[in-house]
Amino acid sequence: MDRAFSFFMFVHCLMIFSVNSENNINTDQSALLSLKSQISDPKNMLSSNWSTVTSVCSWIGVTCDSRRHRVIALNISDMGLTGTVPPQLGNLSFLVSLIMSRNVFYGNLPKELGNLRNLQQLSMDHNQITGVIPEEIGNLNNLKNLSMDNNQITGLFTVNLFNKSSLEYLSLRNNELSGYIPREIGNFTMLKKLYLQNNTFTGMHIVCFRCELNSNRGIKKNNNYFCPRMIGLRYKYVSKYRIFYF
Ligand SMILES: *[C@@H]1O[C@H](CO)[C@@H](O)[C@H](O)[C@H]1NC(C)=O
Ligand SMILES: *[C@@H]1O[C@H](CO)[C@@H](O)[C@H](O)[C@H]1NC(C)=O
Ligand SMILES: *[C@@H]1O[C@H](CO)[C@@H](O)[C@H](O)[C@H]1NC(C)=O
Ligand SMILES: *[C@@H]1O[C@H](CO)[C@@H](O)[C@H](O)[C@H]1NC(C)=O
Ligand SMILES: *[C@@H]1O[C@H](CO)[C@@H](O)[C@H](O)[C@H]1NC(C)=O
Ligand SMILES: *[C@@H]1O[C@H](CO)[C@@H](O)[C@H](O)[C@H]1NC(C)=O
Ligand SMILES: *[C@@H]1O[C@H](CO)[C@@H](O)[C@H](O)[C@H]1NC(C)=O
Repeated sequence: MDRAFSFFMFVHCLMIFSVNSENNINTDQSALLSLKSQISDPKNMLSSNWSTVTSVCSWIGVTCDSRRHRVIALNISDMGLTGTVPPQLGNLSFLVSLIMSRNVFYGNLPKELGNLRNLQQLSMDHNQITGVIPEEIGNLNNLKNLSMDNNQITGLFTVNLFNKSSLEYLSLRNNELSGYIPREIGNFTMLKKLYLQNNTFTGMHIVCFRCELNSNRGIKKNNNYFCPRMIGLRYKYVSKYRIFYF
């Protein structure tokens, strides 16, 4: 092998290495630093703690996978943070759990959250999120828990957004969702709990859940009409743990 070729291979390996190194813990770090730089942090929860002198994995609210050394959970709930949700969070590609509850995050949710393909839990309850839930949230095939209570989310409640067989817990209380509760939601076979109280749904809409075999136990009626009648019995989906609140 001549020297030129060896040198070529060496450079090639270096290039591969640098391409890989772009998508590593530094990606996670820069995503979190973007978040930090875009929010106000009056209680100084992050200001000195999220420092590049220490590893991202030791930052408050951050959990890493020990094997891959990537950020898998971010829990910055109840830290008094104010700001918008930055699109860079969509770069946390290994994230399984994103919890930003009980802060003052406002504005629209970035569509980039739909890039978080490993995400199982997305909790942004008790903030001031406005606008519609981006369609891209429907791309999250592993999402089990979506919790957005107490925001000012508007738009129709369409199944496109939650067309996920993985969804077990969906909570959107105290928002401004409108339109009808789609019948298709009765087909979400994994759904165990659904909370939709205090939205601005219109009309007398009847949703019949296949799983409500056992009686009306656990069903509450609020402003919206709910029909606990069974249609098209499918016994395998019957579970006493399924509770739906409207
Ligand atoms: C940041 O906070 C974490 C969790 O409280 C703590 O373990 C860590 O030592 C802190 N790091 C710095 C640099 O203060
Ligand atoms: C998130 O952090 C808050 C505050 O530290 C804690 O109370 C809560 O249990 C955490 N949630 C999860 C799912 O770890
Ligand atoms: C992170 O995300 C932003 C916005 O979504 C993008 O412009 C940027 O190139 C990404 N950065 C990295 C390091 O992947
Ligand atoms: C889903 O998230 C909400 C808000 O963070 C939490 O209260 C609830 O216990 C979670 N549910 C499940 C089943 O993990
Ligand atoms: C919902 O998911 C099913 C099965 O994955 C797919 O065929 C259908 O097109 C999806 N509907 C929407 C509105 O995304
Ligand atoms: C209903 O939701 C709105 C926000 O959409 C909130 O301001 C109001 O306090 C909620 N009402 C109740 C009874 O929880
Ligand atoms: C619900 O599922 C049943 C059985 O798979 C199907 O026939 C029906 O069309 C579905 N309904 C809706 C509204 O998606």
